[in-house]
Amino acid sequence: MLSLNNKNIILGITGGIAAYKSAELCRLLIKAGAQVRVVMTQAAQEFITPLTMQSLSGNRVHTQLLDTEAEAAMGHIELARWADLILVAPASANFMAQLAHGEAHDLLTTLCVASRSPLAIAPAMNQAMWSNTATQQNLQTLQQNGIHIFGPDAGAQACGDIGLGRMQEPQQLAEQSAALFETGVLAGLNVVITAGPTREAVDPVRFISNHSSGKMGYALARAAVDAGAKVTLVSGPTNLPPPAGVDFIAVESALQMLAACEARTADIFIGVAAVADYRPAQAAQQKIKKSHETLSLELVRNPDILATIATSNPRPFCVGFAAETENLAHNAQQKLQNKKLDMIIANDAEATFGHDHASAIALWMGGEETFTQQSKEQLARCIIELIASRMQSTR
Ligand code: CTP
Repeated sequence: MLSLNNKNIILGITGGIAAYKSAELCRLLIKAGAQVRVVMTQAAQEFITPLTMQSLSGNRVHTQLLDTEAEAAMGHIELARWADLILVAPASANFMAQLAHGEAHDLLTTLCVASRSPLAIAPAMNQAMWSNTATQQNLQTLQQNGIHIFGPDAGAQACGDIGLGRMQEPQQLAEQSAALFETGVLAGLNVVITAGPTREAVDPVRFISNHSSGKMGYALARAAVDAGAKVTLVSGPTNLPPPAGVDFIAVESALQMLAACEARTADIFIGVAAVADYRPAQAAQQKIKKSHETLSLELVRNPDILATIATSNPRPFCVGFAAETENLAHNAQQKLQNKKLDMIIANDAEATFGHDHASAIALWMGGEETFTQQSKEQLARCIIELIASRMQSTR
């Protein structure tokens, strides 16, 4: 089944008669679960109206780079970061030339240059333009730059010619877009992920907690689902909707989180939750009254969920997260050893908590890999790929 659940897609439309098919493509992407924002070049608007694309996408269409109103709503850099995929369909010969040369003179080309997300184009043009030497050289450059090229197909063209240059059908384009996210590297494996904060009750109305948003854990759950895994997400309270396709278990306290994790068997366990290290020794039965000038709370240590799972039998491949404010690599290395983990992902707590983007270092015995600043969605996919390859080489 075609799945683009929760994927943010910029659908770029350039000037060409195939632009009328972009309407159907937009509909199919949304049907597959994606959020779509449409960006149209000046020429594209001669073939299909922004109003049509706005009605289908449910979002305002972006057409101008230097539009103060549009920039105030969602600036072009923000839009570039938002995207999990930029799909340009149709991509004209002129657009391919601009992209091959890194030009950024309108909104769509600027987004392509500014975004770190995967970029796919569906060329559509007359067969002579497609076979033109310059176009073929541009195509080679784009392929070398890692840009995904969907099509073109051969057949009868709008201009009456017959040959290569027809845009692929919307269904095929939607399927190829979905395939970019399906690595299948965890097919058939059970993955348990903890996410979010825990809440440790002080009394019936108060608790101790932390700022974890749950975004990284939820992004990993989605990436693991996309990679073919059967995913259980054990989450503390967050404002995020449970990702599609996961078995979702909502918990509050560290003790509840541990019990939920121990009740599952996992091939891979990923501890992303910011588990409260301590809980009040005794939660008060009634609301604590402010009857004294000072109040002392006795706290006791919570069990370490990750370390507990890492000593279970059979033992899953265990991955931890270390959000640190200082000595990042050193502290993470200590946790890797002390908790007997297979891998730990370290990141800067202040730059990570609550943000949509993060950088990270993955450490394991005898190796490491650095991930530059990117969306948590993309980072999650990279981490899942790495977990799959490390697991394969150790087992
Ligand atoms: N973790 C856990 N249970 C705990 C504490 C932490 O499962 N009670 C997991 C986290 O989910 C994370 C890893 O252990 O994957 C590291 O968490 P972190 O809070 O960075 O480290 P702590 O072990 O709590 O150490 P400290 O707070 O002293 O840095």
